[in-house]
Amino acid sequence: MKRAALAFAATTAALAAGLTLPVRAAPDGAAIYARCAACHTKTGAGVPGVFPPLGEDFRVMAASEAGRRYLALVVTRGVSGPIKVGGKPYAGVMPAQATLDDASVAAVLNHVGTEIARTGPAFKPFAEGELAAIRASGAALSAQDVGKLHAGAGGQ
Ligand code: HEC
Repeated sequence: MKRAALAFAATTAALAAGLTLPVRAAPDGAAIYARCAACHTKTGAGVPGVFPPLGEDFRVMAASEAGRRYLALVVTRGVSGPIKVGGKPYAGVMPAQATLDDASVAAVLNHVGTEIARTGPAFKPFAEGELAAIRASGAALSAQDVGKLHAGAGGQ
């Protein structure tokens, strides 16, 4: 009782001080992209043969269900080739971005879709719920498993 009363008093004091209870702010896709840019570069052009570009492949994939699943799993599970992007082979490893929650993964993919890959008006934004379903369906996949999905996901 005493503890609850203290907690109540603290909350009341915080409210009285003009503080609002925490409200989840929408994640900022552009800010999150900074971590992707460390490898894929700021413009998404990548480094040929090392870090693939986030362009043509992304645009094609974002338009199909299998492609969207692949793109989301690349971020949540990581990816390791051999894969071909823009005609060039890649056989490196992208580490899973495990600290990003569903809303953050959706936000960064939407940033790539609209600002980096410049998919145009046809781009259908990723939703948090879509991410949750894909993450659950791919929970057992390794980065290599995700690499094997590349060709079937519309990879060039
Ligand atoms: C540590 C470097 C690194 C970081 C950080 C990184 N990636 Fe990657 N990414 C890679 C590499 C390497 C590959 C290709 C894997 C291979 O060589 O087999 C890749 C592949 C991809 C692909 C697949 C491209 C295709 O056409 O199949 C996508 C999409 C992608 N990354 C998006 C992202 C996004 C979005 C982020 C940030 C949330 C990110 N990456 C962060 C290194 C990175």
